[in-house]
Order: sequence, then structure tokens, then C-alpha cells
Amino acid sequence: MEIEELPGIGPATAEKLKEAGYRTIESIALATVAELKEVAGIGEGTAKKIIDAARESLKMGFITGIEVLKKREQMKRITTGSKELDRLLGGGIETQAITEFFGEFGSGKTQICHQLSVNVQLPEEKGGLGKGAIYIDTENTFRPERIIQMAKALELDPNEVLENIIVARAYNSDHQMLLAEKAEEIIKDKNIGLIVVDSLTSHFRSDYSGRGTLAERQQKLNRHMHFLQKLADIYNLAVVVTNQVMARPDMFFGDPTAPIGGHIVGHTSTFRIYLRKSKGGKRVARLVDSPNLPEGEVIFMVTEEGIRD
Ligand code: GTP
Ligand code: MG
Repeated sequence: MEIEELPGIGPATAEKLKEAGYRTIESIALATVAELKEVAGIGEGTAKKIIDAARESLKMGFITGIEVLKKREQMKRITTGSKELDRLLGGGIETQAITEFFGEFGSGKTQICHQLSVNVQLPEEKGGLGKGAIYIDTENTFRPERIIQMAKALELDPNEVLENIIVARAYNSDHQMLLAEKAEEIIKDKNIGLIVVDSLTSHFRSDYSGRGTLAERQQKLNRHMHFLQKLADIYNLAVVVTNQVMARPDMFFGDPTAPIGGHIVGHTSTFRIYLRKSKGGKRVARLVDSPNLPEGEVIFMVTEEGIRD
């Protein structure tokens, strides 16, 4: 279906929307009324009608329990490379969901993101999806050399693996949000099974550092997360985000660290895994809250070959 076929979109409006990057029904379904009003110069009522029609055609409204079940049956998993970590996650990271890895520096967040970008390319019988990855890198820590090491360890062609990871460097939080929106075009084009955002929160933390800007930061972060979740739903792909923990000197009991973004990120991620360093290069992963899995802790390793037991 083309966007011209939506009620309320004439040729001139279609032209303006396409120029602004709204080329597909999906992109319109994910847009806000304010965005469409602005780029197409249309009234609020029309914008709402167009978005509703796009959502309706994609069946984004209410659905029955059976339809939810059918959608869940489409859900697939990507192996992390560690059987233990996979077990903690119920068999690997899920499509149609956002999985958040949070922990202090060096706890293995970026290593897991690299490994998943390789593993998603494995055939389904080996724990992948036979698809590529989009990697939104906010801290300039994506390393092709590391991908090559991990690909070789799995006897994959390293160049081919690198070819199937589309990397974008995000320079600030607005740019990061824009890249997520752009990702949609790539998803359609390139058969993408995984979107990584490493790190989800670092730019948001530095761009909105004053006390008075906290509400704005949380709103933007919320919007960013919801957009990622919609991509995960519509395209049946996995989203993985990372989050650093912040020292909380004011906390005397319990864990003195807390993930940045607090409640917003916590409530929007489907799975949250807390990582910490342990003795002898070991890492401890703890599932913090999940809709359908028991909490638990497992141990994995970051090795030369990548994430392993
Ligand atoms: P921040 O982004 O700083 O918050 O940390 P992070 O959680 O992303 O940490 P990252 O995933 O970058 O982990 C880095 C750690 O992984 C290093 O300190 C090493 O312990 C380990 N590591 C990275 N590369 C290799 C490797 O080639 N071999 C082995 N054995 N370990 C590695
Ligand atoms: Mg990192």
C-alpha cells in the first residue's frame, strides 16, 4: 500500500510528506499529529485522520487475545553466545521487545552489543535470524576489529558480517532520535533483525544536565523508547539498549548505583539485565524485571572469541 491511498492524502500532501521522509505507511503510523501538521501544512484533524488510517491499515489498534498470541508466535530469539545468559533470558534476546543491559563501565555492555550484531546474522538453527543489524553508536566505541574476531570465532566471513552491520554515530540526543527514525528506511531496505543503541542514555545525560531540564529529558527519552518499541513490533526485530549506572552517594542501603533515565527507561524496556564485574574476568548478569521470567543470576565471560560461558 502507498501513502497516497490513505484517506486525506492528496498528491500535493503526498509530495510534501515524501520530501520530509514519510514515504511509507509505517512511517506515518509512527508519526505524531504535530509532526505531520508541520511538514505537510495540514490541519490537526486531517493529520489525525491520516495517522489513524495508517495505524488501522497496519492493525495497530485494539487486537484480540488470539491476535496477540499469533503475534507472540512470530517472536524469535537471538543467542548471546553464552548458554547461561540465554537461559536467564528464556532462550536469548527476543524480537518485538527492548532489552536493556545496564551496569558500570567495563561490565560488558558494549561487548554484548557487538556479539549480538554478529549473532543475529547466524542462521536460525544456530541461534540467529539470518538478518543484519543497525548499530547506533553514541560513545564511539564500535570496533570493526572486534567484530572480525567474533565473526572468525563463529567461522563466518568477517567482511560479510561487517557489511551487514549498518553503523551510525550519534553526536547528540536529538541526532540519536533522528537516526532511530532514519533506521526505518534501512530496515525495509536491508532485512534488519536487530537495532542496537549503545548507549541509550549518555547523550541525554549530558544534553540535559541541569535540574530544570529533567522533565524535558524524560519526555524525549520516553518518545525515543516508544519509537524503538514500535519498530520492534512492526518489523519483528530485537532492540538492545545499554545504560550506565550512576553512583548514588545519597543511598546508604541497597545497591548504591542506579540506571540513568530511572523510571522512564525502566518501564519501557521489556527486559532489564544488570551486569557487574566479578573475579577473574567473570561477569554476573541479573535479570531485574521481566513480564514472564523469574528473576535470577548467571555468570558469563568476555573472552577473545566473544561472549561465552
Ligand atoms: P562502558 O561503555 O564504559 O560503560 O563499559 P561497557 O559495559 O560497555 O564495557 P565493555 O563492553 O566495553 O567491556 C570492556 C571489557 O571487555 C574490557 O575491560 C575487557 O575486560 C573485556 N574485553 C574487551 N575486548 C576483549 C577481548 O578481546 N578479549 C577479552 N578477553 N576481553 C575483552
Ligand atoms: Mg560501552
